[in-house]
Amino acid sequence: MIQELRSQFPILQRYVHGGKPLVYLDNAATTQKPQSVIDAISNFYTTSNANAHRGGHALGAEATALYEGARSTVAEFLHAQHDSIVFTRGATESLNLLAVSIERTYGARLAGKSIVVSEMEHHANIVPWQLLCERTGADLRVIRVTDDGSLDMEHALEHIDESCAVVSIVHMSNVLGTINDVQTVCARAKELGAIAIVDGSQYVVHHDVNVAEIGCDAYVFSGHKLYAPFGIGVLCGRYEFLAELEPYQTGGAMIDRVSFEKTTYGEPPVRFEAGTPNIEGAIGLGAAIKWLSGLDRDAIRTKEHSLAKNLVEGLESDSRVRILGKRHALNGIVSLVVDGIHAHDLGVLMDEQGVAVRTGHHCAMPLMQRFGVGSTLRASLAAYSSREDVDAFLHAFSKSCRMLG
Ligand code: ALA
Repeated sequence: MIQELRSQFPILQRYVHGGKPLVYLDNAATTQKPQSVIDAISNFYTTSNANAHRGGHALGAEATALYEGARSTVAEFLHAQHDSIVFTRGATESLNLLAVSIERTYGARLAGKSIVVSEMEHHANIVPWQLLCERTGADLRVIRVTDDGSLDMEHALEHIDESCAVVSIVHMSNVLGTINDVQTVCARAKELGAIAIVDGSQYVVHHDVNVAEIGCDAYVFSGHKLYAPFGIGVLCGRYEFLAELEPYQTGGAMIDRVSFEKTTYGEPPVRFEAGTPNIEGAIGLGAAIKWLSGLDRDAIRTKEHSLAKNLVEGLESDSRVRILGKRHALNGIVSLVVDGIHAHDLGVLMDEQGVAVRTGHHCAMPLMQRFGVGSTLRASLAAYSSREDVDAFLHAFSKSCRMLG
């Protein structure tokens, strides 16, 4: 089964560094793309290329149908309604859109309010809120992470109080693999009248998502981590919430009427999609979701869990290794430091052996500070990861550690 699945990814057949088979374990940064996604994009340009929502001609109608079809696919995937899906460039743009539109809508009412995030957020879910706080006089509050890499739920529930205007929380950490109880966090936020936002960039890759069950106002993710192209992402908003928000960018397509005296805006989702959209990206994302939906996701999750266990057990044989948030690593993201060896040096030597991992702060500097490290080496799994990948990782890892002393 795994060989058949891997054969759908042309890039996995390649070699690097003069003949080393590629071992790709940087899936939390971006996943590789199956042939069906590559074909969907290529077919669009070969047969249907035109602007969507603009031309009355045959190709224009086809491009519009493909683009809106992709929106329906995403909506079904998240158990949301079609008009709740806004296409963006990625999770980062979705979060910036939310911060700017919330500020434009609620403006002066945000002064003295609090915006709650956690210590395990990606920079994309920190900086837009930090800037919003600077501009409005709101206060940024941070939920603590415990020593074992969990979200401190007691602290979370304490922090989300009557002063809270927005809670924006990650569903699965891109560094630790921690899966947060976002239902409870969102329920608390909603009980107090705050806006509840979830960054699902990592979670959606491994798990099914039902936005209604989560109870959030908005759920965001990026396409490129979900086997889809770069430059496409999703903001899935509760329709009534989106309908209240002022736009983010302005221009073509997002308007109702324009005159030099006054402009009125369209309804969601077009209100948030100014300019020509990334049509090929949306089509590629639709194809990726269809590809993913054809797999046995439970079986894939079980396999990823067991591979992560192999990784953790293999790493533990070296007493110098510390895995951050070890109990969460089994979710498929393993971040580690090695006493006396810089993660970057290790990453370079492993790359020379064909093993691609990420080293650095993973766009989560506050989390690095929380654990007292500057950077980690991170291995992250995807549907096509294999036992051979894990063995190659462990072999390259111990060889590199030996070389670095
Ligand atoms: N956010 C991506 C990562 O964790 C890029 O690597």
